This record gives sequence, C-alpha cells and structure tokens, in this order.
Amino acid sequence: MSKKISIIKPDDWHLHLRDGDALNTTVAFSAKQFQRAIVMPNLAQAIVNTELALQYRQRIINARPEGNNFQPLMTIYLTDNTRVEDIRSACDNEFIFAAKLYPAGATTNSSNGVTDISQLSAVLEAMQAGKLPLLVHAEVTEQEVDIFDREEVFIDRYLNEIRQQFPELRIVLEHATTKQAIDFVEANDNTGATLTPQHLLYNRNDLLAGGIRPHNYCLPILKREEHRQALLKAATSGSPKFFLGTDSAPHAINAKEANCGCAGCFSAHAAIELYCEIFEQAGALNKFEAFSSFYGADFYGLERNTDVITLVKEEWSAPESYPFADQAIRPFRQDTPLQWKII
Ligand code: NCD
Ligand code: ZN
Repeated sequence: MSKKISIIKPDDWHLHLRDGDALNTTVAFSAKQFQRAIVMPNLAQAIVNTELALQYRQRIINARPEGNNFQPLMTIYLTDNTRVEDIRSACDNEFIFAAKLYPAGATTNSSNGVTDISQLSAVLEAMQAGKLPLLVHAEVTEQEVDIFDREEVFIDRYLNEIRQQFPELRIVLEHATTKQAIDFVEANDNTGATLTPQHLLYNRNDLLAGGIRPHNYCLPILKREEHRQALLKAATSGSPKFFLGTDSAPHAINAKEANCGCAGCFSAHAAIELYCEIFEQAGALNKFEAFSSFYGADFYGLERNTDVITLVKEEWSAPESYPFADQAIRPFRQDTPLQWKII
C-alpha cells in the first residue's frame, strides 16, 4: 500500500491570485488545497485601501468553485500616500488582515510602493496600535546593491530599525531567502517568515547553471546552497516563527520567456505536494503539519482549521501549461515528476 499522510487543511500565507479572467485559473487551484490565503495586493492597480480590498475580495469569492469555502484574507498595499485613516479603516475591517510594504521598484507591480521608509512612522505606529501585521518584501532597490545581497542589506538598513522602533508590531519577513533573514527572525520577538517551495527546493544554480531557466526566476532571487540549507533547517526546526507561504505568482509563458522576463513562479497547482516532498526529503514529515497548518494561523492570531486533507505518495506530472485568461502559464518544476498527490 502506498504511503499516506493526513494533515489539518493548510493555509497559504503569501499568494498572488491576480485579477480578471486569471481568477478563473488561480482561485480554483488554491481553493482545492488551502482553507485560507493571504492575498497579495500588487495588482496592476494596487489595492491601496479597504474599499478596493473589499471589491477585490468579492471578485475572488465569485471565482470560487461551487460549494468551496476558501477564504481570501485581504491585505492593503502601502504607498507614500497611505494615511493613518487608511490604516484605521483596515484595522476595523473583519476582512483585512495585514498591510504589505513593497519598496518602490523591488518587484512585480511595485512602482507605487514606498520610496522613503523613514516617512512611514505614523503608519507603522497606527498598525502597531491596531494590531495589523506588517508584511515586508525585504529587498533594497538601490541599483548599486548586488541583486544577491538585497535582502541582507534591507535587513541591515531598514528592518532592524523598524523592529526596534515598533516592538509590538507583528512583522512577517515574506519569502525569506537568506540565512541572515533566518537569523533576524529567530533573534526578534513578534517576527515571523514565510518560506516558499522554490527557495526550499532550489539554489541559484537551478536558475543559471547549464542554461538560464526563466521559470525559476523569482524575487527575491534564488540564492547559494548555504542559504537554502538555512531555510530548510528553519522550516523543519519546529519553530512557530516559520510557516508556509507559496508566493505562487503566475505570469503568462510569453512574459517569462522574454527579453526581459517577469519574476514569479506559479506553484499553486501542486503547492502542498511540493512542501510534502521537501519535508520528506529532509526526514521531517513529523514537522510538516505544524509548518503548513498551525504556525501561520497562530502568528496571525486566527483559529486553526479543522478539516483534514490526505496526501498519498504517488508520482504524477503536471501538464506543460494551464490556461490563464487568454494566455497560458507553465507550472513551477514542470520538468520533474511530483512525488505526492492530494486525494
Ligand atoms: C511576485 C509577483 O509576480 O507578483 N513575483 C515574485 O517573483 N515573487 C511579487 C513578489 O512577491 O515579489
Ligand atoms: Zn509575492
């Protein structure tokens, strides 16, 4: 009989669903695997306030498969123009769960992000007071900083200071990619991190050695093996500071296989299967459920889920592409058979 594992239904604490017809693809994949997801606000028209977040939430709900109860947990996007009232309104709303800090220009649809973090004090103060978590894309955008160092430099230049100034503010260092990020999270209270499948599975050779692989290109960029090892150790350590966040970020194939390709890996088609494989390979399947289904909810102060999902050890391959609005997306790691399957 093949190996099986049952866990409480997981949540995805970092997800890009996009908008419009793309929702017909993205929502169903995530809704099949996850009970809830923190939905990133970096649409072409950024979700900068509660009103836009509620409208976006409704579009996601409308795209849910019949009978499915997937819960999108909405976030707002901080800009140079975010006002304290915007934060208060988000704190008072039952559907808004966090605010996201994108340094302007750091990643996809971040041009309206924050240009001067030192100007954010009143906003962060209001978030701390209103118990709204701060989600951080922790990379500097200064052109002179090497792309592989941008996370470490952001922690040194900005995040340490925010951490000290607002000790009660809950901060999630999103998609952590370096051992410096892991050290920062471990050293500080009220601080957590999401870890993605791509950063747990791959190092920068998987992006650049033996040919360039645009479907492994994401931000923050894949790092050296020693960093991957640090992430793996954190994920499987049983520390409640580290939890599942796929950063599944679909871009049409022609936007990735291009002269200037977009950053983002679409992993929602098999996210929990990929994490299961990662934990199995690390000999840490006994830590898989808490990482996937408990620690994120605990960090956000939410109830844990009660439904159960079952995975069976069975090889399968994702198709080369899935439809995506009027285009197509290539699933992450399509060239390697998956080892686990949700039943
Ligand atoms: C994300 C996207 O495409 O929206 N891309 C990525 O490479 N991770 C944005 C982000 O989370 O940085
Ligand atoms: Zn992301």
